[in-house]
Amino acid sequence: MAESSSDLRRRRWWRSTTTRVLAGVASVAATATVLVAAPGADAAASTLGAAAAQTGRYFGTAIAGGRLSNSAYTTIAAREFNMVTAENEMKPDATEPNQNQFNFSAGDQIYNWAVSRGLKVRGHTLAWHAQQPGWMQNMGGSALRSAMINHIQKVMAHYQGKLAHWDVVNEAFNEDGSRRSSNLQGTGNDWIEVAFRTARAADPSTKLCYNDYNIDNWNYGKTQGVYRMVQDFKARGVPIDCVGLQAHFTGGSSVPSSFQQTISSFAALGVDVALTEVDVTNSNTGQYAALTQACMNVARCIGITVWGVRDSDSWRASENPLLFDGNGNKKAAYNSVLNALNAGGPTTTPTTPTGPTTPTTPTTPTTPGGGSCTATLSAGQSWGDRYNLNVSVSGSSSWTVTMNVPSPARISSTWNISASWPSSQVLVAKPNGSGNNWGVTVMANGNWNWPRVSCSSS
Ligand code: G3I
Repeated sequence: MAESSSDLRRRRWWRSTTTRVLAGVASVAATATVLVAAPGADAAASTLGAAAAQTGRYFGTAIAGGRLSNSAYTTIAAREFNMVTAENEMKPDATEPNQNQFNFSAGDQIYNWAVSRGLKVRGHTLAWHAQQPGWMQNMGGSALRSAMINHIQKVMAHYQGKLAHWDVVNEAFNEDGSRRSSNLQGTGNDWIEVAFRTARAADPSTKLCYNDYNIDNWNYGKTQGVYRMVQDFKARGVPIDCVGLQAHFTGGSSVPSSFQQTISSFAALGVDVALTEVDVTNSNTGQYAALTQACMNVARCIGITVWGVRDSDSWRASENPLLFDGNGNKKAAYNSVLNALNAGGPTTTPTTPTGPTTPTTPTTPTTPGGGSCTATLSAGQSWGDRYNLNVSVSGSSSWTVTMNVPSPARISSTWNISASWPSSQVLVAKPNGSGNNWGVTVMANGNWNWPRVSCSSS
């Protein structure tokens, strides 16, 4: 579905306002030797995460904890992706193996691996008919209802404030759009609603998602069933922020022609949409390009996650469905996805026009450090809640840029750098082989002042 004319108007208004604001900044810059470049000059990015970030989206992968000791695997994962989902390690059987005895070691291993590399994490999943611990499988009625609530509260408390999203409920529908029969469904039809209300109370900082497979075709019973539930939740104020289309195009399925209509229809309900577990039989390049483009064409399609790194890591390895082959080589589908991300598309604007006052101060982007190098900031795209900054380093190819983010703003993603985090407000960036042009996405959290940067050369 095309972007609405009101979206276009808001975006044009935002661009012209941004230009005016930057013109003002530039006049300040003339006296303060601040280097501020024109907006909208994003160069083609060379990794999936960087390319997605330039459009305000993320590109993620499922990570299996057991593979984190494999350096070929971790090298690709850290280089290419800026979002991570634990493939199995945050599921109920992993986190609560015995009732009310929680074990976060496997989940934390993945979480720590990701955030120490500047990657964000999606939580997957809290309430599901599958991968329940044995004690839960044998439970029903009010005991199970209480156990589900306790599980959500305790697991979300552990990760409080740390995760970008939680798949609160997973795969609760039948193919015809009715509710799947399960022990959770047996506790009462309101169990999904209770799960979401519990989740919001447990961690108001995390986006709460409903996640399912085979909800890609708009003209399919299951899609319509989930749509009606989300519509009902939004109408009654049940807290839900996002819908995850798993988008497994394996096992005989393929990207339907209505895929973008499905994404935009969910988005029109006022929720974000994410493609959460993508894989495609034999990595068909046309299908990978189409699904990526469909996401790019809808402003509230916030990111894409593939369900594994290399074909050999896939739950359906025999179908070779991922973007890297078993030797870690980029496949043709990788290029079709990267090209679609870099092509951008006219979207990317949950244009809540609250941000045009940004940036309120021109910052001090060029403080040479110990050696001689200069880091120059320029505006990238902006949204109602966040903005991109492009950083260009000159004078050295062996540099360290320190970026101090004014609280409570936070950097939510980076591209083309090796990142470390001395604190939540300080990013230390070094070259990662992608050259001297890199960038960050800053969640403003109400503070639109740009970060301060300093550059040192070694
Ligand atoms: O870890 C044990 C190992 O100790 C044991 O020897 C072995 C024997 O079978 O099993 C291992 O556990 C397996 C686990 O993956 C880790 O490899 C489980 O048997 C196996 O069932 C489990 O499969 C996972 C599946 O969910 C379970 O439902 C897949 O890895 C995982 O990719 C898959 O992910 C799901 C999403 O969560 C929801 N959407 C569908 C998607 C694909 O099925």
